[in-house]
Amino acid sequence: MTNSPNLSHGRHTLAIPGPSVMPERVLQAMHRPAPNIYTGELIDLTYSLVPDLKAVAKTQGHVAMYIGNGHAAWEASLANVLEVGDKVLVPGAAQFSLGWAETARRRGLLVDQLDFGRRNAIDPQAVEDALRADSTHDIKAVLVVQTDTASSAKSDLAAIRAAMDAAGHPALLCVDSIACLGCDDMQMDAWGVDVMVTGSQKGLMVPPGMCFVFFNDKAVAARQKMSRVSSYWDWHPRANPEGYYQMSCGTAPTHHFYGLRVALDMIVHEEGMDNVLARHATLARAVWAACDAWGQGGPLEMNISDPAARSHAVTALRIGAPHGTDLRNWLIANAGVTLGIGLGMATEDDAYSDGFFRIGHMGHINTHMMLGTLGAIDAGLKALRIPHGDGALAAAAQVCAAPS
Ligand SMILES: Cc1ncc(COP(=O)(O)O)c(C=O)c1O
Repeated sequence: MTNSPNLSHGRHTLAIPGPSVMPERVLQAMHRPAPNIYTGELIDLTYSLVPDLKAVAKTQGHVAMYIGNGHAAWEASLANVLEVGDKVLVPGAAQFSLGWAETARRRGLLVDQLDFGRRNAIDPQAVEDALRADSTHDIKAVLVVQTDTASSAKSDLAAIRAAMDAAGHPALLCVDSIACLGCDDMQMDAWGVDVMVTGSQKGLMVPPGMCFVFFNDKAVAARQKMSRVSSYWDWHPRANPEGYYQMSCGTAPTHHFYGLRVALDMIVHEEGMDNVLARHATLARAVWAACDAWGQGGPLEMNISDPAARSHAVTALRIGAPHGTDLRNWLIANAGVTLGIGLGMATEDDAYSDGFFRIGHMGHINTHMMLGTLGAIDAGLKALRIPHGDGALAAAAQVCAAPS
């Protein structure tokens, strides 16, 4: 008698929307004894990170480095430019807009939220209307999540900046690019983004634990008007590499610095930003081509129907309960692939998020990895007898075969 084989052994694939797959070279660079933190290599290395981080964000502005995750970046951004009692506008009501809004509320800010549901990107016209209605300019900042990792909706930042300018409103444009810096384009200076936050663990391909706040001179001016900024969040010393050693920042995240140095070498100096973005765009289109084909003959559906409003970092899918959870569990047990859970997507119709899943396609990914993940999903749909259309893998392969 032969046992049926378990096909999950072999290298496991993590296809969740962060933490993303980390390059071996990044991990190897971090595998070292603690360095001298006062003089020598580490100091030079810290300085070297700054221009490359700014190249990824396409800015001539400033970048502050923190030990912390994305939640810390949310706190840091608000702490430097907004006083208790200031008003902020938060367009968006998917998971991460809600999260940043809640952080703002708990810092004593007044939050006006615009709700576009969980299946739509932000409507810039609604932002313009809300700002025009604020004739006394009480709103001090507009907090926009560029890619909401839960819905996979992508904001059109250039259009939102144009809407703010059309309203003639002086509020700061603050952007959360935690899910997508290095995957979806960020043109901080060209798009007039005043403050931008991100984390180490997604497009930057480094373990969770560091976050970054980028800011321009308009934000510096807002910082100067603050009555106080708590010392941990103060971006000034953190935007000056020697601050880690001579001012009040505490011990530097030494090993993250080594990992980040290698990741930035790979992104900025070896592959190049434009190529990194083109790779993400193509692999996202391959995922969407497969999803379109599956959806022709069954319940699977992309959460965001307009391709222009979809992120290149993550795709959120609806498949109906209990298929989402069943499929994820099947892939872990039988294919060695972990997909992302449905996050904050439950509705009255489908109360337990069992009807959703997400495919992460961010960072250190290539054709082989994405086609492998899609092939495993195809096997899972068949094993679980979830109805689906044919030709998904051929459609995805065709996109990879002829990237435009
Ligand atoms: C868009 C977005 N903002 C904020 C966060 C929070 O980041 P963290 O989990 O590192 O605190 C995440 C995490 O996935 C995210 O995707």
